[in-house]
Amino acid sequence: MQSLSEYAEYSETSCINVMPTRLIPDMLDDVRESLLNRPRTLSPKYFYDERGSELFDQICSTPEYYPTRTENTLLSQYAVDIIKKTKPEQILELGSGYSVKTRRLFDACQHISHNCTYAPFDVCEEALVESAKKLSKEYQWLNLKPLLGDYNAGLGNLPVANGSHLYLFLGSTIGNFELHEANDFIEELYKVMRKGDNLLIGVDRVKESEVLHAAYNDAQGITAEFNLNVLRVLNRELNANFNIEEFSHSATFNTHKERIEMRLVSKSDQEVIINDLDRSIRFNQDEEILTEISQKYTYKGIEEMLSAANFSITEHFEDENAYFSLVLASK
Ligand code: AVJ
Repeated sequence: MQSLSEYAEYSETSCINVMPTRLIPDMLDDVRESLLNRPRTLSPKYFYDERGSELFDQICSTPEYYPTRTENTLLSQYAVDIIKKTKPEQILELGSGYSVKTRRLFDACQHISHNCTYAPFDVCEEALVESAKKLSKEYQWLNLKPLLGDYNAGLGNLPVANGSHLYLFLGSTIGNFELHEANDFIEELYKVMRKGDNLLIGVDRVKESEVLHAAYNDAQGITAEFNLNVLRVLNRELNANFNIEEFSHSATFNTHKERIEMRLVSKSDQEVIINDLDRSIRFNQDEEILTEISQKYTYKGIEEMLSAANFSITEHFEDENAYFSLVLASK
């Protein structure tokens, strides 16, 4: 039994730092390499400062952005099955954000009186702390273990508790990886898992380009704000002077690669100073920065990725339009 004061204390507690298992460049080196060279790119992980995480949450409730709604419905429908089948002692979520959809699994646990630990793992400390506070009130039986870190820096130092684990990789976050990187990541995850552990992965499917285009070009312009926010992050973190107004949002479906490509496009010929890099960048009008890829998968593609890493697929849930897949796989 935990006392109330322990809950109160818990909400003050900060996160466990998950140390990298491999060296990844810090922001300065990363941005120097990716932004100063052509084609100019930025890692999507820089979207997620506090404001970026909030904007992403707002994207999720736009009418056009179907993935979150669809995945949430699938989770509501099948969470009890999933929990009964996996009986996890620890649920570890990679890229947990504000843990909104994950609540469907906690509801299911509650429904069948299954207690467990929840270890949300994310790069955004504000999101982790804020949602831990809320979750500890909403699900008082849930044992919380927020983990702060970057899964791009390796999974080898994730704390592994006793008992079976259910790993979650929801929201088609896997789509941010190039195909070969996604395969490597799934293999790496397989290695840290133990026999009997399960993975629940949410993956966005290939579909009509109109539906995809709308989802990344919402009428309210929230996705545009989210995309442009990365420039505010650079302004703050690297002492840059991007004029947000001088860039525009672009998101197109690359039918050949079956992925959405999100870019920031310079509206004019301009020069931007990045003080911490001791450099300025000249952008020509219409010059682009690739800020995100969002790979879409066929069901066959998902199957191939999971079986290449040796996973056995135990369940496949999809909506009636086959817009989104929720796949349960075991080691
Ligand atoms: C969090 C990577 C799954 O690719 O759909 C949403 C991010 N970007 N709208 C996605 C995103 C623009 C999202 N993922």
